[in-house]
Amino acid sequence: MASRYHEVYEGWKRDPEGFWAKAARAIDWVSPPKKIFDKDAGVYGIWYPDAACNTCYNAVDRHVAGGRANQKALIYDSPITGRKKAFTYADVKAEVSALAALLQDHGIGKGDRVIIYMPMVPEAVFSMLACARIGAVHSVVFGGFAARELATRIDDAKPKLVISASCGLEPGRVVAYKPLLDRAIELSAHKPEACLILQREEETCELIEGRDYDYADGVARTRGRDVPCVTVASTDPLYVLYTSGTTGQPKGVVRDNGGHMVALAWTMENEFGVKPGEVFWAASDVGWVVGHSYIAYGPLIHGATSILFEGKPVGTPDAGTFWRIISEHKVVALFTAPTAFRAIKKEDPRGAFVKKYDLSAFRTLFLAGERADPETIKWAEQHLGVPVIDHWWQTETGYPVSQNPAGLGLLPVKYGSPGVAMPGYDVRVLDDAGHPVAARTLGNVVIKLPLPPGCLPTLWHAEQRFRDAYLREFPGYYKTADAGFIDEDGYLFIMSRTDDIINVAGHRLSTGAMEEVVAEHPDVAECAVIGVADAMKGQVPVGFIVLNSGVARDGATVEREVVGLVRERIGPVAAFKSVVTVKRLPKTRSGKILRGTMQKIADKEEWTMPATIDDPVILDEITVALADRGMGV
Ligand code: COA
Ligand code: AMP
Repeated sequence: MASRYHEVYEGWKRDPEGFWAKAARAIDWVSPPKKIFDKDAGVYGIWYPDAACNTCYNAVDRHVAGGRANQKALIYDSPITGRKKAFTYADVKAEVSALAALLQDHGIGKGDRVIIYMPMVPEAVFSMLACARIGAVHSVVFGGFAARELATRIDDAKPKLVISASCGLEPGRVVAYKPLLDRAIELSAHKPEACLILQREEETCELIEGRDYDYADGVARTRGRDVPCVTVASTDPLYVLYTSGTTGQPKGVVRDNGGHMVALAWTMENEFGVKPGEVFWAASDVGWVVGHSYIAYGPLIHGATSILFEGKPVGTPDAGTFWRIISEHKVVALFTAPTAFRAIKKEDPRGAFVKKYDLSAFRTLFLAGERADPETIKWAEQHLGVPVIDHWWQTETGYPVSQNPAGLGLLPVKYGSPGVAMPGYDVRVLDDAGHPVAARTLGNVVIKLPLPPGCLPTLWHAEQRFRDAYLREFPGYYKTADAGFIDEDGYLFIMSRTDDIINVAGHRLSTGAMEEVVAEHPDVAECAVIGVADAMKGQVPVGFIVLNSGVARDGATVEREVVGLVRERIGPVAAFKSVVTVKRLPKTRSGKILRGTMQKIADKEEWTMPATIDDPVILDEITVALADRGMGV
């Protein structure tokens, strides 16, 4: 079918308000928007400023009332525990209402924050929806983060209550969540009043009298209680999701209720090409934005069935897990990160597992979160026989900025490009002075303001940081901090970040935050952390340390301790495993560490001696040190 993309995109460009007024009809409002956009309100204008709604109502109740009560809403498939369970929309309503009642009994109401620190269990999604039901603001923290990261988020979000679990499960080990939570609360200045703890069979935990409450006991008491969906302003926050900034202080991305629902509903139909009643699977984690938008809210708002997968693409039990799930649950579209496919390809290069399953219902594979290398895309195309669609977005936007819109009819795929700008987004490429560049010229990828509905209106209690980080450098534009170019057909190519963020297995991490931790080691005088290319994870961090003069201990011991420190402070997700001790760090004459050059050496790329380098010999020393570890040359 010929793609309607150009017609739809031009339609949006001609009349953005008309476009978003029409899209808003997919939502059941308590009071529908009379005004679509107020350009004078908020930081860059506000969408649906006068509307009122409830997100849980749209994700759950309206489907129960509208004929989907017995349709599966959520399928929990956990190869790591061997458990599977399906929840209909009616079941989800019952679970969410019971939990909402319990939250109310704990004094949680509109505007209160609730932190959710949970593994991939259905209760994590129920917790998000229960908060939405009563107008509380949730903040989900990814389970792979350590206690200190959780503490930072507790201090910023100031939750009245935390919902957590006794443990999570990683291949070969049980991750005890409760000690991490206890430690985080010890470290944080703000103390939540209560914690609801889901006891899992694999490992239970002690509850602290007067603070901790058993989740299952609580909902058993409130089950059957009817908790109406609380009306909130469309502009009220639904959630805050922390993402890596350029310092150890993460950015609290705020998501509103109304704009978020409209945008997600539009993307499910038009970009992912999924119909209500069909099965959609985002193989990510509820701790990331992909989990928020495309495990929890998007599919449910759209009346589809969502899969909640607790496992890994390989090893739980094998590289055929993805195909087993697709075939067993009749998944029509899968969304995951390219790294998952690189892991599968490595284990099963000939796609032998793919052939064992009936994938006839499967229509499209969507990849995002990091650059999709053409090799991986071609492997997936060849073995799955379906279109493989790379698309690009960020925690801040909440849904794709560029895509190849399956629902509007696919455009030709260009390998290496995450597609074309989606309606709502006027994507430009500017040079460092803010001037537009010609097609195919590398520059700063920016989005012309205003951002569309559902994108972050601000950062949590940090409006100035929002302006400084995203809006100041290129007036009139939102800075994505990605570098790339647009070709003559309007296809975008994302090449790298312009800040210190690296992408490890599709996880966004700040090298600056890692440097802050490394520098805490008493024997470290100076350090730098860079992201180097990795065949499986895309990038992995590598630390360089200079020891304090007079340190008698051997470098290898300090290196091991530094690795341990990052794991303890940031968490295993940082995948920080390599540290190289060097005599000095390469710097410019003004003292700036030449991280870019170090990265090129580590990645075996061509590099030139920076004209401003203080002492060129240091780069030779770095080259030798890397070679000793099997990196670089
Ligand atoms: N709780 C606790 N620890 C966690 C965790 C969680 N929720 N998630 C990950 N970790 C730990 C892992 O156990 C691992 O620890 P280790 O150093 O002891 O092995 C570490 O954090 C790194 O995890 P991960 O990035 O998942 O790497 P991996 O080597 O375990 O697996 C892949 C590699 C490719 C299989 C895996 O990264 C993957 O499935 N990626 C899919 C992409 C994805 O989901 N991206 C999210 C954004 S869309
Ligand atoms: P996150 O906020 O965790 O979703 O990370 C967003 C960042 O991941 C983007 O700014 C990009 O740097 C990178 N990213 C996401 N999707 C893609 C993609 N399809 N191609 C290249 N980079 C991507």
